[in-house]
Amino acid sequence: MSGKMTAPKVKARKGGDKLTMITAYDFPTAQIVDRAGAEIILVGDSLANVVLGYDATIKVTLDVMIHHTAAVARAKPNGLIVGDMPWLSYHTSIEDTVTNAGRLVREAGAEAVKLEGGKKRLDMINAVLGAEIPVMGHLGLTPQSVHAMGGYRVQGKQAAGAYELLSDAHALADAGVFSIVLEGVPDILAEIVTKEIDVPTIGIGAGVHCDGQVLVLHDLLGLGGGEYLPKFVRQYARLADDAVAAVEQYFDDVRSGAFPADDETYHMPDESAQILRELVAGPRDPGRKLAADDLMADEAMER
Ligand code: KIV
Repeated sequence: MSGKMTAPKVKARKGGDKLTMITAYDFPTAQIVDRAGAEIILVGDSLANVVLGYDATIKVTLDVMIHHTAAVARAKPNGLIVGDMPWLSYHTSIEDTVTNAGRLVREAGAEAVKLEGGKKRLDMINAVLGAEIPVMGHLGLTPQSVHAMGGYRVQGKQAAGAYELLSDAHALADAGVFSIVLEGVPDILAEIVTKEIDVPTIGIGAGVHCDGQVLVLHDLLGLGGGEYLPKFVRQYARLADDAVAAVEQYFDDVRSGAFPADDETYHMPDESAQILRELVAGPRDPGRKLAADDLMADEAMER
């Protein structure tokens, strides 16, 4: 990727090279995805599940999202930093919505915000756009609606629901969002939406026809606890297994005395060691004054 990604650059990629988007939730994960060339970095409210151990994204608050988004921003990635607006941060009033989106930008360093929902959220989306904050839409299986949907279900499987989603996508695009995440929808619906609207679609569980793809970092790295993964997740690594094996090996080395090795150990200069041995061997004399060199021994330790 050449230079810093921006919302207008993402929008301009409609129909072009596929956009690469991934989640990150803190400084090291932001550095990892940045080194890999992520074009869009989503500080997703999925952090509720994959980082904080909650059973639903609706458990995460705006303050927590700000805390994590700020950590990602400190990595100064080239990818566009999108802060996810958590449940209830854009549902109560237009004023609250703009204030909350503004906090993600001003306090945390987000360069755009994402919020879930279609026409129902248009007033809020327009207000955030009016405050000059780029907005990414999110349609289909919107996890913050888990109770309203009656669980995490693929959306738009019937023609009526699919047609409604298409109309929502048009409404968001007309409002001026710079891209739309399509989550958990049949591929044909994602294909139609992608063809019909003039902003990039970014799929997750939406088939191959979208303008880009997004996955949750911990899912693709195999960093979870082995719990259920949706069928659209491809695991490119098993880092949790690798991490367990590494920690087990460390424990084995501690037990066997193989850790720490000599070159992982600080040493005293031979002369000081000799003086110490003599002091310890001689009669105990707490009042005895030691030479300045010995008192400085700590400072001389190699790092
Ligand atoms: O929170 C998240 O990670 C998301 C992606 C799944 C799109 O919203």
